[in-house]
Parts: sequence; structure tokens; C-alpha cells
Amino acid sequence: MGLAKQGAATPTRRNFVRATALAALSPALAPAMAQGAPAPKSTPAKAAHALGPGFGPAPGVALLSRNENPYGPSEKAIAAGCAATEQGAYYADRSLLYLVDMIAERNRIPREFISVSAGSGEGLCAAAQSWTRDGGKIAAPALFWDTTVRYAERQGAKIVTAPMKDDLGVDLDALESIVDDDISLVHITNPNNPTGMLLDPAELRAFILRVEKRATVLVDEAYNELTDIPEAASMINLVRDGKNVIVSRTFSKIYGMAGLRVGYLMARADITARIRSNIMSWISGPGLAAAIASYDDDEFLAESRARIIEGRDMVVVAAQSHGLDCLPSQTNFAFINVKGDADVFRDRMARERIFIRGAYQGLPNWSRVSMGRIEDLSRYVSALPKAIAVK
Ligand SMILES: Cc1ncc(COP(=O)(O)O)c(C=O)c1O
Repeated sequence: MGLAKQGAATPTRRNFVRATALAALSPALAPAMAQGAPAPKSTPAKAAHALGPGFGPAPGVALLSRNENPYGPSEKAIAAGCAATEQGAYYADRSLLYLVDMIAERNRIPREFISVSAGSGEGLCAAAQSWTRDGGKIAAPALFWDTTVRYAERQGAKIVTAPMKDDLGVDLDALESIVDDDISLVHITNPNNPTGMLLDPAELRAFILRVEKRATVLVDEAYNELTDIPEAASMINLVRDGKNVIVSRTFSKIYGMAGLRVGYLMARADITARIRSNIMSWISGPGLAAAIASYDDDEFLAESRARIIEGRDMVVVAAQSHGLDCLPSQTNFAFINVKGDADVFRDRMARERIFIRGAYQGLPNWSRVSMGRIEDLSRYVSALPKAIAVK
């Protein structure tokens, strides 16, 4: 197994498959994109100019803004995904069942407890939409990965938020206090994004046992495998116990498959039936194949995790050596108080072709950086002293 992959465009079978797939997508674009040449100006690829042609970061760009894992997909996932592409004429129903059975076995839950979606994002959107369709509201902390509840909001849903603790941790007491009869869904991200902080498992479990009687509690565990205590931190045992809880997982983070779009939600059969009836897509065969091939690839997962943590340690040490505060992250990103305008900081980094997140609402000095490749993080660390010289 090797972590380094996706090298130059040598005429390998993988490149052939990739070029074939691109040709199907857009015959005019395929040759240029497959070789990494700039896309013609008149194509939709123009809109994606910031990241360059094709997929992944453009040459010279350190892409540290989206919490992707550049060490994936695993070699096994790539091989399986390419093989599945050859069978791309057929719907991937059998492989979906296969993946569901793997997830069921590992989590000791029935198949009927699992809904697979195009990334966990789709399942989370389905839940947010379904739980608020009849006027129910969503309760959440003021700071979390809110993309999917904002989707429901655009359909008319109401979101109510509870303030964070002073240390930017999730305040479970404050959250509980806003769960009234109008709340149908409580959304928690654990570890949280953008803070990277993990809740105390016993406190979260006790919170859920109190609140699930009044509303469904959704725990998004997208980064669970990157925590120091994945098993203890997960709320899957409450799903197993038949509580009113949804646990969400994804192949986008530790598995390094963000572009392949596979995620899954686990919940009681009645809850899962409701989620499934709101899921819109049919999962892509290559994505499923890659997920099946990497689900049990412990060697890849351990190495991927080690590299991410090595990068995170490097970033945290560098930031602290410049007097900056970092929150204790249990994820593949770090949240740093740059003690200046985080948007200006982002723009200075961008001038060096290092892409990170800008300020979050209400937190003008906090900046999130994702753990890309070590060489990209080295560039971030080198650019740090100049970039923080902003007020
Ligand atoms: C907390 C959290 N949940 C879910 C997602 C969505 O992941 P995906 O739809 O790729 O599974 C993200 C993406 O960054 C995330 O940060």
C-alpha cells in the first residue's frame, strides 16, 4: 500500500479509464482535462478556474480549505473504482447491498438501520428536510457545520441556535434549554466543525438520553475516526439501543473519498425509512466500489490518520510558537486565533497560492486550516509569520 498516488499523467490503465470517463462527460473537454492542460475558455470549466482544470488542486496550489484528505483514496479503492467504472453501464444495486451489509456487521445493527447517500451531506439534507416539513424546527449550537440545515432553511425550515461556551465548545445545557415542543431535530457535529473539538462522550450520551424523548437527536460523526477515542466517542450504541438518534458517517474524510460521494446515516428502522424516502440520488458504482474496498483497509486508515496527525501537530506547534491560540482539534483541521483579521490572513495566504478558510460569522479572528499534504502544510507554516502581521 502506498499513500503517494495520482502522479503524472503516464499512459496507465487508470488514466485510460479516466480519459474514457471524461470523454463520456464531454468529448470536447476530455483530452485536455485528462492531460492536465488548461480547459478551453468557452467551457463551464472556466467557472472552476480557481482550482484549475480537472479534479483536485491546480499545480502549485496548497488546498487547505475544505477538510479533504489528500492521502486517499486508498490504492484498493482506486483499483475497485476503476473496475466498477468499466461496469458503469449498470445500476449499482448489488454493491449497495454489499456495503450496507458491511456497515451493519461492523456496527452490529440491522440493514434496515442504514441509509447510504451521495456523501453524508445528502442524507443530512434529507433528514433536515423531512424533520421540518411539518413545521418542526431544528436546534443546533451557534457554531457547527450548518450546510445541510441551511438547505432545509431554504425550503422554509426554522433553525434555532444556542450560544457556545466561552472556549467555543458546544454548550449542551444551553442547547437543551432551547429544545421545546417546536423542536423536531437537534443537530450536533461531534467533533465539531470548525472548532475540531470533541464533546465528552458521557456528557453527550446523558444529554441525548434526556433530549431524545422530545426530539430526534442527530450526531454528525464525520470526523470520528480521527479522534483519539473513536469507539468511545461514537453514539452508535444509542442507535443500537433503539433510541431516537441518528448517527452520520462519511467516506469523505479519513477514507479520502470526498469526490466519490459516499456517506451513510444509521438510525432505528422507522427513522431510517423516513430518511431513505427523502434521499434523491442513486449511488454511483465507482463510489460504492471504492467504499467497499476501503472500509476494512486498516493499514491505509492507520497511515492516513498518522500523516494527518503529524501535519496537525506541525501546524499547531508553528502557530503556538508565534503566540497564536489553537483549539484542541480531534479532526483533520485546526482552528486558530490569528489575532488579526482572518479574512486578511486568508487573502495573504491566497497570494502565496495557499487556500484556507476566511472568518466565520461572529469570529473575525479565527481561521480554519485543513490538514493537506505535509509539503503543503510546510508552505503554510513558512507563510505564517508574514501572514499574521495584519491587524
Ligand atoms: C461535519 C461534516 N459533516 C458532513 C460533511 C459532508 O461530508 P460529505 O457530504 O462529503 O460526506 C462535512 C464536510 O466537510 C463536514 O465537515
